[in-house]
Amino acid sequence: MPVTVVIGSQWGDEGKGKIVDLLSREIDVVARYQGGANAGHTIMWGDKTFVLHLVPSGIFHDGVKCVIGNGVVIDPGALLDEIGMIKRLGYDVDDRLFISHNAHLIMPYHKKVEEARERARDAGAIGTTGRGIGPAYVDKFARTGIRVVDLLDRDVLRKKLKVAIEEKNAILKGVYGADQLNVDAITEEYVEFDKLIDPFVTDTSQYLGQLLKGGAHVLAEGAQGSLLDVDFGTYPFVTSSHPTVGGCCTGLGIPPTEIKRVIGIVKAYSTRVGNGPFPTELDGETGEELRSKGGEFGATTGRPRRCGWLDLVALRYTSMINGFTDLAITKLDVLTGTPQIKACTSYDVAGKRTERFPSEVQTLEKVEPIYESFEGWGEDITGVTSFDDLPDCARTYLSAVSDYLDVPISTISTGPKRNQTILNAAPATVG
Ligand code: GDP
Ligand code: IMO
Ligand code: MG
Repeated sequence: MPVTVVIGSQWGDEGKGKIVDLLSREIDVVARYQGGANAGHTIMWGDKTFVLHLVPSGIFHDGVKCVIGNGVVIDPGALLDEIGMIKRLGYDVDDRLFISHNAHLIMPYHKKVEEARERARDAGAIGTTGRGIGPAYVDKFARTGIRVVDLLDRDVLRKKLKVAIEEKNAILKGVYGADQLNVDAITEEYVEFDKLIDPFVTDTSQYLGQLLKGGAHVLAEGAQGSLLDVDFGTYPFVTSSHPTVGGCCTGLGIPPTEIKRVIGIVKAYSTRVGNGPFPTELDGETGEELRSKGGEFGATTGRPRRCGWLDLVALRYTSMINGFTDLAITKLDVLTGTPQIKACTSYDVAGKRTERFPSEVQTLEKVEPIYESFEGWGEDITGVTSFDDLPDCARTYLSAVSDYLDVPISTISTGPKRNQTILNAAPATVG
């Protein structure tokens, strides 16, 4: 059986958690391949709401195994809190949750350095989640990071931490005038973490390889979104990993030839948390309305999300990078009651019309979106489960999205809960 990848097509928070949880009914393994506790994936059913930051969104399906791959940066404290929450809810994690021995750890100094750097950047701040993600990936690539496997040998851990903390203290004090960190206290804290996470640690690429050989169906769960990818996103206003499809191979040790399906998760409008260019952003009343109707507040930081119209130029670009085989459109219900819906189909760049997504942030900041308008609908579509039951205007909007991107829509989400979904929306295109 193949690998299916679920990828955010915009700036994150597209509803990946809901879709992964839903797909987990037919899946053997769900694996996270990048990012860390900067992610906030919401799952709802009945009157319950859960937000997962590190544990894959398949955990609430008893038979499903969950893997945190080598590409993820793990904050052990955040992970243990999450494991505690899952256990309290009555779900077993033993022999179900597997953590890569090669994954890098978030250390307290990563958060300190990030905080100091963001403060120093002032108006140019990225607006990170403050979870230490960037500095942890910097250490990984500088080859000074500390991995899960390093926790096993206390002497090695202490030596590595001493070198790392001395360097970070020099930076914190010399560059940012910030507080110092203590080697002994941090070593002790991480030795304690080791005792608790040790049962979950394994060579996850070997584990996944064996499962795939045995015919298992693996679902790779992307965090963040393609426009936050460190190479393909709106750099420098990005995260420090690869949410795009290549990240799945390097972050799990899965060969690309195993990937048979790449689902692009597309929110029916756009949102962005943090700073950086956002051509279709709506500053006024319509943006406010989308925020309040869509509950657009960060699942990790609680920050209000910036809202805007769908950007098809950006989506065609992320579809090209990822090779989406099909799309899951989420939060369509939020557009109900919007008299006129717009989607950006090209940009005006200094008087010239283009359908190319510019890679330079300076250009992207200046583009004027050119919109196509669609008539809205008034009927409440919350919980609709059949494509035929959608109002004509909603179907027209979806058809236009599918046609522009030349990718079929397989799934349409009409509410935050599992059952509020149209499955098998259309085998080819929606229209
Ligand atoms: P993720 O990071 O991509 O998993 O998305 P988040 O969980 O951060 O944000 C998505 C939000 O939208 C969550 O509060 C979900 O419960 C909610 N949501 C997901 N799908 C739908 C939908 O179709 N309609 C509505 N109204 N809410 C949805
Ligand atoms: P999920 O998986 C939305 C944003 C931050 C900031 C930038 C860099 O829930 O979709 P970082 O802390 O990663 O260094 O911050 O990326 N960001 C997200 N935005 N959803 C996320 O995750 C995000 N993870 C990071 O707001 O702009
Ligand atoms: Mg989120």
